[in-house]
Amino acid sequence: MDSHTVLFGVIGDPIRHSKSPVMLNRAFGAIGINGAYAAFHVLPDQLEHAIAGIRALGFRGLNVTIPHKIEVMRFLDEISVGAQAAGAVNTIVNENGRLVGYNTDGIGYVRSLKEEAEPDLAGRTIVVLGAGGAARGILWALAQEKPAAILVANRTESKAAELAATFDSEFRIQSIPWGDLEAACSTADVVINTTSVGMSPNIEALPLDPAWLKPGSVVSDLIYNPLKTAFLEQAERLGCRIHGGLGMFIYQGAYAFEYWTGQSAPVDEMREAVLESFP
Ligand code: ATR
Repeated sequence: MDSHTVLFGVIGDPIRHSKSPVMLNRAFGAIGINGAYAAFHVLPDQLEHAIAGIRALGFRGLNVTIPHKIEVMRFLDEISVGAQAAGAVNTIVNENGRLVGYNTDGIGYVRSLKEEAEPDLAGRTIVVLGAGGAARGILWALAQEKPAAILVANRTESKAAELAATFDSEFRIQSIPWGDLEAACSTADVVINTTSVGMSPNIEALPLDPAWLKPGSVVSDLIYNPLKTAFLEQAERLGCRIHGGLGMFIYQGAYAFEYWTGQSAPVDEMREAVLESFP
Protein backbone atom coordinates (compact mmCIF):
# COMPACT_ATOMS: atom_id res chain seq x y z
CA MET A 1 0.00 0.00 0.00
CA ASP A 2 1.15 3.51 -0.72
CA SER A 3 -0.43 6.87 -1.45
CA HIS A 4 -1.74 5.59 -4.81
CA THR A 5 -3.56 2.58 -3.39
CA VAL A 6 -7.13 2.31 -4.69
CA LEU A 7 -9.65 1.55 -1.95
CA PHE A 8 -12.40 -1.04 -1.77
CA GLY A 9 -14.43 -2.67 0.97
CA VAL A 10 -17.50 -4.46 2.19
CA ILE A 11 -20.09 -3.10 4.59
CA GLY A 12 -22.46 -5.22 6.67
CA ASP A 13 -23.77 -6.00 10.13
CA PRO A 14 -22.36 -8.44 11.22
CA ILE A 15 -19.21 -8.43 9.06
CA ARG A 16 -16.30 -10.10 10.89
CA HIS A 17 -17.11 -13.50 9.36
CA SER A 18 -16.73 -12.13 5.80
CA LYS A 19 -14.31 -13.87 3.47
CA SER A 20 -14.49 -11.09 0.90
CA PRO A 21 -11.34 -9.22 2.08
CA VAL A 22 -9.21 -12.39 1.87
CA MET A 23 -10.66 -13.20 -1.56
CA LEU A 24 -10.43 -9.74 -3.13
CA ASN A 25 -7.01 -8.86 -1.73
CA ARG A 26 -5.69 -12.14 -3.19
CA ALA A 27 -7.23 -11.15 -6.53
CA PHE A 28 -5.56 -7.70 -6.52
CA GLY A 29 -2.24 -9.33 -5.63
CA ALA A 30 -2.54 -11.98 -8.36
CA ILE A 31 -3.20 -9.39 -11.08
CA GLY A 32 -0.75 -6.83 -9.69
CA ILE A 33 -3.30 -4.12 -8.93
CA ASN A 34 -2.41 -1.57 -6.24
CA GLY A 35 -5.69 -2.00 -4.36
CA ALA A 36 -6.75 -2.69 -0.79
CA TYR A 37 -10.04 -4.17 0.42
CA ALA A 38 -11.27 -4.03 4.02
CA ALA A 39 -14.39 -5.02 6.00
CA PHE A 40 -16.41 -2.29 7.71
CA HIS A 41 -18.99 -2.92 10.41
CA VAL A 42 -21.74 -0.45 9.55
CA LEU A 43 -24.92 -0.33 11.63
CA PRO A 44 -28.19 0.45 9.83
CA ASP A 45 -28.43 3.99 11.24
CA GLN A 46 -24.95 4.75 9.85
CA LEU A 47 -25.57 3.50 6.31
CA GLU A 48 -26.17 6.92 4.76
CA HIS A 49 -23.00 8.28 6.38
CA ALA A 50 -21.00 5.27 5.22
CA ILE A 51 -22.03 5.88 1.62
CA ALA A 52 -21.23 9.59 1.95
CA GLY A 53 -17.88 8.47 3.36
CA ILE A 54 -16.93 6.36 0.37
CA ARG A 55 -17.82 9.28 -1.90
CA ALA A 56 -15.69 11.64 0.17
CA LEU A 57 -12.75 9.26 0.38
CA GLY A 58 -12.96 8.28 -3.28
CA PHE A 59 -13.36 4.53 -2.86
CA ARG A 60 -13.50 2.86 -6.27
CA GLY A 61 -15.82 0.11 -5.14
CA LEU A 62 -17.85 -1.34 -2.34
CA ASN A 63 -19.63 -4.60 -1.65
CA VAL A 64 -22.79 -4.44 0.40
CA THR A 65 -24.10 -7.32 2.46
CA ILE A 66 -26.81 -8.12 5.01
CA PRO A 67 -28.75 -6.12 6.16
CA HIS A 68 -28.00 -3.20 3.79
CA LYS A 69 -28.60 -4.60 0.27
CA ILE A 70 -32.06 -3.08 -0.16
CA GLU A 71 -31.77 0.08 1.93
CA VAL A 72 -28.54 1.19 0.23
CA MET A 73 -30.33 1.68 -3.09
CA ARG A 74 -31.75 5.02 -1.88
CA PHE A 75 -28.30 6.53 -1.58
CA LEU A 76 -26.99 5.65 -5.07
CA ASP A 77 -27.12 7.63 -8.32
CA GLU A 78 -28.03 4.77 -10.64
CA ILE A 79 -29.25 1.17 -10.30
CA SER A 80 -28.55 -1.45 -13.02
CA VAL A 81 -31.43 -3.36 -14.61
CA GLY A 82 -30.31 -6.61 -12.96
CA ALA A 83 -30.15 -4.99 -9.51
CA GLN A 84 -33.61 -3.50 -10.04
CA ALA A 85 -34.94 -6.98 -10.88
CA ALA A 86 -33.20 -8.50 -7.86
CA GLY A 87 -34.50 -5.64 -5.71
CA ALA A 88 -31.09 -5.42 -4.09
CA VAL A 89 -27.55 -4.09 -4.63
CA ASN A 90 -24.45 -5.96 -3.53
CA THR A 91 -21.81 -4.09 -5.56
CA ILE A 92 -21.23 -0.35 -5.98
CA VAL A 93 -18.93 1.12 -8.62
CA ASN A 94 -17.76 4.70 -8.12
CA GLU A 95 -17.60 6.24 -11.62
CA ASN A 96 -15.87 9.55 -10.92
CA GLY A 97 -18.19 10.42 -8.07
CA ARG A 98 -21.27 8.80 -9.55
CA LEU A 99 -22.26 5.72 -7.53
CA VAL A 100 -23.75 2.92 -9.64
CA GLY A 101 -25.38 -0.09 -7.95
CA TYR A 102 -25.22 -3.61 -9.40
CA ASN A 103 -26.24 -7.05 -8.22
CA THR A 104 -23.58 -9.67 -8.92
CA ASP A 105 -25.16 -12.39 -6.72
CA GLY A 106 -27.58 -13.66 -9.38
CA ILE A 107 -25.19 -13.47 -12.34
CA GLY A 108 -22.42 -14.86 -10.12
CA TYR A 109 -24.62 -17.79 -9.22
CA VAL A 110 -25.49 -18.51 -12.85
CA ARG A 111 -21.86 -18.23 -13.99
CA SER A 112 -20.87 -20.69 -11.29
CA LEU A 113 -23.71 -23.08 -12.21
CA LYS A 114 -22.62 -22.97 -15.87
CA GLU A 115 -18.89 -23.33 -15.13
CA GLU A 116 -19.25 -26.05 -12.51
CA ALA A 117 -22.37 -28.07 -13.38
CA GLU A 118 -24.41 -27.31 -16.51
CA PRO A 119 -23.00 -25.10 -19.28
CA ASP A 120 -26.24 -24.93 -21.25
CA LEU A 121 -29.40 -23.84 -19.45
CA ALA A 122 -31.34 -22.91 -22.60
CA GLY A 123 -34.55 -24.90 -22.98
CA ARG A 124 -34.17 -26.54 -19.57
CA THR A 125 -36.78 -26.80 -16.85
CA ILE A 126 -35.59 -25.32 -13.56
CA VAL A 127 -37.24 -25.74 -10.16
CA VAL A 128 -36.42 -23.08 -7.56
CA LEU A 129 -37.19 -23.85 -3.90
CA GLY A 130 -37.85 -20.79 -1.77
CA ALA A 131 -39.18 -17.31 -2.45
CA GLY A 132 -37.07 -15.08 -0.19
CA GLY A 133 -34.33 -12.60 -1.04
CA ALA A 134 -31.95 -15.30 -2.26
CA ALA A 135 -34.51 -16.67 -4.74
CA ARG A 136 -35.37 -13.20 -5.99
CA GLY A 137 -31.67 -12.53 -6.43
CA ILE A 138 -31.12 -15.37 -8.89
CA LEU A 139 -34.38 -15.47 -10.88
CA TRP A 140 -33.61 -12.62 -13.26
CA ALA A 141 -30.15 -14.00 -14.02
CA LEU A 142 -31.53 -17.51 -14.58
CA ALA A 143 -34.18 -16.15 -16.94
CA GLN A 144 -31.45 -14.50 -19.07
CA GLU A 145 -30.31 -18.04 -20.01
CA LYS A 146 -33.66 -18.70 -21.75
CA PRO A 147 -34.75 -21.87 -19.92
CA ALA A 148 -38.06 -23.46 -20.99
CA ALA A 149 -39.55 -22.69 -17.57
CA ILE A 150 -38.60 -21.64 -14.06
CA LEU A 151 -40.98 -23.10 -11.47
CA VAL A 152 -40.89 -21.48 -8.02
CA ALA A 153 -42.17 -23.44 -5.01
CA ASN A 154 -42.27 -22.13 -1.47
CA ARG A 155 -43.55 -23.39 1.88
CA THR A 156 -45.64 -20.22 2.11
CA GLU A 157 -47.21 -20.51 -1.33
CA SER A 158 -48.48 -16.93 -1.53
CA LYS A 159 -44.88 -15.65 -1.42
CA ALA A 160 -43.95 -17.77 -4.44
CA ALA A 161 -46.96 -16.45 -6.35
CA GLU A 162 -46.13 -12.83 -5.42
CA LEU A 163 -42.51 -13.24 -6.45
CA ALA A 164 -43.34 -14.86 -9.81
CA ALA A 165 -45.89 -12.12 -10.49
CA THR A 166 -43.17 -9.44 -10.33
CA PHE A 167 -41.73 -10.78 -13.61
CA ASP A 168 -43.26 -10.32 -17.08
CA SER A 169 -44.49 -13.51 -18.75
CA GLU A 170 -41.55 -13.42 -21.22
CA PHE A 171 -39.31 -14.49 -18.31
CA ARG A 172 -41.25 -17.79 -18.03
CA ILE A 173 -41.18 -17.70 -14.24
CA GLN A 174 -44.24 -19.24 -12.59
CA SER A 175 -45.12 -20.40 -9.12
CA ILE A 176 -46.29 -23.93 -8.37
CA PRO A 177 -48.01 -25.27 -5.24
CA TRP A 178 -45.72 -26.99 -2.74
CA GLY A 179 -47.80 -30.14 -3.34
CA ASP A 180 -46.73 -30.20 -7.01
CA LEU A 181 -43.03 -30.31 -6.14
CA GLU A 182 -42.68 -34.08 -6.39
CA ALA A 183 -44.04 -34.12 -9.93
CA ALA A 184 -42.01 -31.03 -10.90
CA CYS A 185 -38.77 -32.55 -9.60
CA SER A 186 -39.35 -35.79 -11.48
CA THR A 187 -39.13 -33.93 -14.80
CA ALA A 188 -36.84 -31.01 -13.91
CA ASP A 189 -33.34 -30.67 -15.38
CA VAL A 190 -32.14 -28.44 -12.54
CA VAL A 191 -33.40 -28.16 -8.92
CA ILE A 192 -32.09 -25.25 -6.85
CA ASN A 193 -32.44 -24.84 -3.08
CA THR A 194 -32.48 -21.16 -2.09
CA THR A 195 -34.02 -21.76 1.34
CA SER A 196 -31.97 -21.77 4.51
CA VAL A 197 -32.90 -25.41 5.20
CA GLY A 198 -29.70 -27.41 5.75
CA MET A 199 -27.56 -24.44 6.71
CA SER A 200 -25.23 -24.83 9.71
CA PRO A 201 -26.05 -25.58 12.51
CA ASN A 202 -29.13 -27.50 11.22
CA ILE A 203 -27.04 -29.54 8.84
CA GLU A 204 -29.28 -32.63 8.79
CA ALA A 205 -32.41 -30.80 7.56
CA LEU A 206 -33.59 -31.40 3.97
CA PRO A 207 -35.62 -28.90 1.90
CA LEU A 208 -37.47 -31.73 0.11
CA ASP A 209 -37.53 -35.52 -0.06
CA PRO A 210 -34.44 -36.48 -2.10
CA ALA A 211 -36.32 -39.51 -3.47
CA TRP A 212 -38.21 -37.04 -5.70
CA LEU A 213 -35.04 -36.08 -7.57
CA LYS A 214 -34.29 -37.42 -11.04
CA PRO A 215 -30.95 -39.22 -11.47
CA GLY A 216 -28.78 -37.27 -13.90
CA SER A 217 -30.43 -33.94 -13.11
CA VAL A 218 -28.45 -31.07 -11.64
CA VAL A 219 -29.13 -30.36 -7.96
CA SER A 220 -27.80 -27.08 -6.63
CA ASP A 221 -27.75 -25.53 -3.17
CA LEU A 222 -26.99 -21.87 -2.49
CA ILE A 223 -25.78 -22.78 1.00
CA TYR A 224 -21.98 -22.94 1.38
CA ASN A 225 -21.81 -23.62 5.10
CA PRO A 226 -21.51 -26.62 5.03
CA LEU A 227 -19.77 -26.78 1.64
CA LYS A 228 -21.77 -29.92 0.79
CA THR A 229 -25.21 -29.94 2.41
CA ALA A 230 -27.06 -33.12 3.41
CA PHE A 231 -29.38 -32.40 0.46
CA LEU A 232 -26.44 -32.48 -1.97
CA GLU A 233 -24.95 -35.57 -0.33
CA GLN A 234 -28.19 -37.47 -0.82
CA ALA A 235 -28.69 -36.14 -4.35
CA GLU A 236 -25.17 -37.29 -5.26
CA ARG A 237 -25.90 -40.76 -3.89
CA LEU A 238 -28.98 -40.90 -6.13
CA GLY A 239 -26.90 -40.13 -9.22
CA CYS A 240 -27.59 -36.40 -9.54
CA ARG A 241 -24.91 -33.90 -10.58
CA ILE A 242 -24.42 -31.62 -7.60
CA HIS A 243 -23.45 -27.95 -7.30
CA GLY A 244 -22.70 -26.22 -3.98
CA GLY A 245 -23.00 -22.59 -2.99
CA LEU A 246 -19.33 -21.65 -2.70
CA GLY A 247 -19.08 -20.92 -6.43
CA MET A 248 -21.81 -18.29 -6.13
CA PHE A 249 -19.75 -16.47 -3.52
CA ILE A 250 -16.56 -16.70 -5.62
CA TYR A 251 -18.21 -15.52 -8.83
CA GLN A 252 -20.20 -12.67 -7.26
CA GLY A 253 -16.79 -11.43 -6.14
CA ALA A 254 -15.31 -12.12 -9.56
CA TYR A 255 -17.95 -9.95 -11.26
CA ALA A 256 -17.39 -7.17 -8.71
CA PHE A 257 -13.65 -7.34 -9.38
CA GLU A 258 -14.27 -7.17 -13.13
CA TYR A 259 -16.66 -4.18 -12.84
CA TRP A 260 -14.15 -2.30 -10.71
CA THR A 261 -10.96 -3.09 -12.62
CA GLY A 262 -12.05 -3.94 -16.18
CA GLN A 263 -9.84 -7.05 -15.97
CA SER A 264 -10.70 -10.75 -15.86
CA ALA A 265 -10.88 -12.03 -12.30
CA PRO A 266 -8.29 -14.63 -11.22
CA VAL A 267 -11.02 -17.04 -10.14
CA ASP A 268 -8.76 -19.98 -9.23
CA GLU A 269 -6.64 -17.84 -6.89
CA MET A 270 -9.79 -16.35 -5.35
CA ARG A 271 -11.23 -19.80 -4.67
CA GLU A 272 -7.91 -20.94 -3.18
CA ALA A 273 -7.84 -17.94 -0.83
CA VAL A 274 -11.36 -18.63 0.41
CA LEU A 275 -10.78 -22.36 0.92
CA GLU A 276 -7.55 -21.64 2.83
CA SER A 277 -9.44 -19.32 5.16
CA PHE A 278 -11.85 -22.02 6.35
CA PRO A 279 -10.91 -23.23 9.85
P1 ATR B 1 -33.13 -15.33 2.11
O1 ATR B 1 -32.83 -13.90 1.91
O2 ATR B 1 -31.93 -16.17 2.51
O3 ATR B 1 -33.85 -15.94 0.94
P2 ATR B 1 -35.60 -15.18 3.56
O4 ATR B 1 -36.01 -14.01 2.72
O5 ATR B 1 -35.89 -15.15 5.03
O6 ATR B 1 -34.05 -15.43 3.42
O7 ATR B 1 -36.22 -16.51 2.93
C1 ATR B 1 -36.02 -17.74 3.49
C2 ATR B 1 -36.63 -18.80 2.55
O8 ATR B 1 -36.41 -20.08 3.13
C3 ATR B 1 -38.13 -18.64 2.40
O9 ATR B 1 -38.50 -19.08 1.11
C4 ATR B 1 -38.66 -19.59 3.48
O10 ATR B 1 -39.96 -20.05 3.26
P3 ATR B 1 -41.23 -19.24 3.86
O11 ATR B 1 -41.47 -18.10 2.93
O12 ATR B 1 -42.34 -20.22 3.87
O13 ATR B 1 -40.84 -18.79 5.24
C5 ATR B 1 -37.67 -20.71 3.34
N1 ATR B 1 -37.63 -21.54 4.54
C6 ATR B 1 -37.05 -21.23 5.73
N2 ATR B 1 -37.20 -22.25 6.58
C7 ATR B 1 -37.91 -23.22 5.94
C8 ATR B 1 -38.37 -24.54 6.28
N3 ATR B 1 -38.13 -25.07 7.50
N4 ATR B 1 -39.04 -25.25 5.35
C9 ATR B 1 -39.27 -24.73 4.11
N5 ATR B 1 -38.86 -23.51 3.73
C10 ATR B 1 -38.19 -22.77 4.63
